[in-house]
Amino acid sequence: MNKTGFKFLCRFSDIPDGGSKGFTLGEGPTAFELFITRKGGRVYAYENSCPHTGGPLDWTPNKFTDSDSGHILCATHAALFRVETGECLAGPCAGDWLRALRVDIEDGEIFLKM
Ligand code: FES
Repeated sequence: MNKTGFKFLCRFSDIPDGGSKGFTLGEGPTAFELFITRKGGRVYAYENSCPHTGGPLDWTPNKFTDSDSGHILCATHAALFRVETGECLAGPCAGDWLRALRVDIEDGEIFLKM
């Protein structure tokens, strides 16, 4: 399905509850990295850039959440972020925020607002 002004990312059913998935849009120096994570029936999207250093949050592909707490985890220095808001709750960037992106779910498909 095409949705004007949005980019298809994946199907909702591709992400288990509590799971996450990373994406790279574009190539080379202008490539943009983001990830989505699912909590229940909702999906949240953020730029894959930690406010501490600007580096990516994941060391393992598609693994952006801490299995113990359920929070988003930066693997570099273990900062934890609230899934629903992107606020850093603990770690070297406590009080900073991930950059939130807008996603819509329609007919079981997840789209990123461009
Ligand atoms: S790079 Fe994310 S906590 Fe340091």
